[in-house]
Amino acid sequence: MAEAENVRKKKPVRSPVLAASLLCWMSVILAVGCGDGTTTATDTTRLVPSTALLATVDFLPWDPDTARLPDDSAHAEQIRFGLRLMLETPTLAAEYVGNSLTCGNCHLNAGQRENALPLVGVASLFPLYRGRDGRMVSLEDRIRGCFLRSMNGSAPPYDSPELLALSAYIAWLGDGLPAGESPAWRGQNRIPVEARLPIEELDADLGEALFIQRCTMCHGEDGQGVDLGIAMAGPLWGANSWNDGAGASRIYTFAGFIRHAMPLTSPGVLTDEEAQHIAAYVNSHERPVFPNKESDYPGIDRPIDAVYDPQVFERNPFIRKE
Ligand code: HEC
Ligand code: HEC
Repeated sequence: MAEAENVRKKKPVRSPVLAASLLCWMSVILAVGCGDGTTTATDTTRLVPSTALLATVDFLPWDPDTARLPDDSAHAEQIRFGLRLMLETPTLAAEYVGNSLTCGNCHLNAGQRENALPLVGVASLFPLYRGRDGRMVSLEDRIRGCFLRSMNGSAPPYDSPELLALSAYIAWLGDGLPAGESPAWRGQNRIPVEARLPIEELDADLGEALFIQRCTMCHGEDGQGVDLGIAMAGPLWGANSWNDGAGASRIYTFAGFIRHAMPLTSPGVLTDEEAQHIAAYVNSHERPVFPNKESDYPGIDRPIDAVYDPQVFERNPFIRKE
């Protein structure tokens, strides 16, 4: 389903030697052990800092080539495949992907980057209750949800090699971290409630001006992504982007991502307000429709920032006359 020319072609430039030495070097500064696999939930050597350079876009602190893998070779192989799936999702899981995004487009450095929806140490928090589903969800359910919405695709079966590998990789990212404890770096991609502007005060035109200033050099004026050689951003709108039932289609959720994770080489330069105007602009565009939105949030209030949800807004308030 994914169009070959839109699939990002990131060159594998990771150097295991460089990775290992950088990890050890950071360990010295932070006075934690090097290479023994015992860490705490505040050990930042587990994540690429959000201020890292374009050159570190492929850097993995927890890399199957250098970090401890399980002795069971089938399990180790699942972890390796899971990492590749994070980075080459439309190619390796084509059956379940309906756009040209990779998991790693949003979960930067394959889920190992600070302030960019990191997945390190989150697996052991599942199952957890989610209001959108109205029930306890397992890690596998959560990943299936990402395929349905963020990847605009279909849910891989519970026993599919793809789902087993992704959950093995994400679980392995928490190796050595205390189980059941929410790590300090989780949930940082947020706009605090008191900084949220009412939806009617957001200005998609202002967002467009900011987008041109801050984003088009890498994302293109058409939002479809510019090939930077070392990395390629995914489409921000249109047929190859996330669908309108995804978390990224909600204004505050999406603003929280860009506020802390983007621009890639200088995250943090946007204010909370600017991030929200840009989110309104990005989500002023047409994108694939998630058909079952009305079954979300059973029995509870629907989020007020779900601008594509016809039960919240009769019509997306930011959609412009084309
Ligand atoms: C369009 C961006 C986007 C893409 C692509 C994407 N995700 Fe996510 N993902 C999110 C957002 C946003 C959240 C929610 C964070 C929150 O709830 O605060 C999330 C949450 C998650 C969580 C739960 C994390 C936690 O701490 O509870 C997991 C696991 C996850 N994604 C896995 C995946 C996998 C695997 C893929 C690829 C199949 C994927 N995601 C693709 C944006 C994306
Ligand atoms: C220096 C280049 C650069 C700039 C500037 C930049 N981005 Fe990105 N962006 C990227 C790259 C590269 C990725 C994919 C990262 C990866 O896969 O490792 C990305 C990923 C994203 C994603 C995840 C979903 C997707 O489609 O890839 C969003 C959303 C995003 N950027 C929004 C923005 C916004 C909004 C701005 C402006 C405020 C911005 N970016 C500025 C390079 C950039």
